[in-house]
Amino acid sequence: MRFTDTLPIPSAEALAHSEQLKAIIGQEIQAQGGQISFHHFMQMALYEPGLGYYVAGLHKIGATGDFVTAPEISALFSQCIAHQCAQILSELPNSSILELGAGSGRMAAEILLGLEQQECLPEHYFILDLSPDLQTRQWTTINQYAPHLLHKVQWLTSLPTEPLRGVMLGNEVLDAMPVELFTVNKQGIVSVQVSVADDQFAFTDGQTKAAEYIQTLLPTDLALPYTSEFNPALAAWIHSLAEHLETGAILLIDYGYERSDYYHPERSQGTLLCHYQHRVHNHPLIYPGLQDLTASVDFTAVAEAGVDAGLQLAGYTTQAAFLAGCGLEDLFLAALNQQPQASYQLAQQIRTLSLPSEMGERFKVIALTKEFTTPLLGFRLGDRQHRL
Ligand SMILES: C[S@@+](CC[C@H](N)C(=O)[O-])C[C@H]1O[C@@H](n2cnc3c(N)ncnc32)[C@H](O)[C@@H]1O
Repeated sequence: MRFTDTLPIPSAEALAHSEQLKAIIGQEIQAQGGQISFHHFMQMALYEPGLGYYVAGLHKIGATGDFVTAPEISALFSQCIAHQCAQILSELPNSSILELGAGSGRMAAEILLGLEQQECLPEHYFILDLSPDLQTRQWTTINQYAPHLLHKVQWLTSLPTEPLRGVMLGNEVLDAMPVELFTVNKQGIVSVQVSVADDQFAFTDGQTKAAEYIQTLLPTDLALPYTSEFNPALAAWIHSLAEHLETGAILLIDYGYERSDYYHPERSQGTLLCHYQHRVHNHPLIYPGLQDLTASVDFTAVAEAGVDAGLQLAGYTTQAAFLAGCGLEDLFLAALNQQPQASYQLAQQIRTLSLPSEMGERFKVIALTKEFTTPLLGFRLGDRQHRL
């Protein structure tokens, strides 16, 4: 992934798609009196029906897309998650897994295969994604890697009506949720809005109703101006997961920080980033519908929302420590035994997943549990709850 200011030129077809979405967002801005919140803009850019980045038929995830996620990098990642799931499922009879935002379906396929090997298959493997387009891709992937387990998979359009006993899982889902942008300047806290100027989207200042909440996030020694963001839907989302969990664990994996690090005085430009064809840049208003917009996760906010929803904070650690706790080394050795010719690729995968300079430290794992008190495997080699 390269950080750059020069981007590949989209094809004529892609540009036409983006222009269509741009026109719809422009109409919305006009209907709202000339500006909309950045949150509203990001919601439309990513999820506008038929046109948004995640719901239109572009190939986003993987080598030919815009970014690569851990399940696409290595099956070992999902096999570790399968170990964690097995520990929970084996204690809860008739339990299931619900995967949120399942992307290409690669993690679902590998988890099912891993659980089959451990003779611990779930009753159901539910998938809930905001993108109906990805459902077909998920079906195809699972049919390719684990066709005999396809009958376990059920696609949902909303959280299950029957409360779930088992595991709710999400890899890189939180970072794909729209955020509210704000700037602290000498006048106080202003909301970053999106308007139209010279036929282009532009940032403008607006009022925020969340100033009091934002104040609680920030340290007092900020050099101004200071721009950052927060996810206004996070607490409600965690609450609804908690309501739909009868017993078991919610496991969320994503890039992000504890609050003191997230809103660090030196992080004065926030964490919002754009991904377009394996380039990372910071121009969120261009190419709506063609590029991914993403912000890091405030894991303190996740923990607070969970505890507020009656869940227990059962663990928080780095991806490297979590995978090691779930048996990454043994899984690596088993894979080496099976495919000695792939030793270089496997070693490379381990490095990408675990090195601090790669995904190892930037990605974190948090677990929130309900009526499940057994210490979780993934946190046995280190738990950073105290930092939240
Ligand atoms: C960055 S992709 C990650 C996909 C996959 N988990 C992976 O690791 O490759 C984020 C996914 O989360 C989905 N998503 C975003 N918000 C969601 C929500 N509230 N519920 C379920 N899925 C959501 C998006 O549609 C998208 O498929």
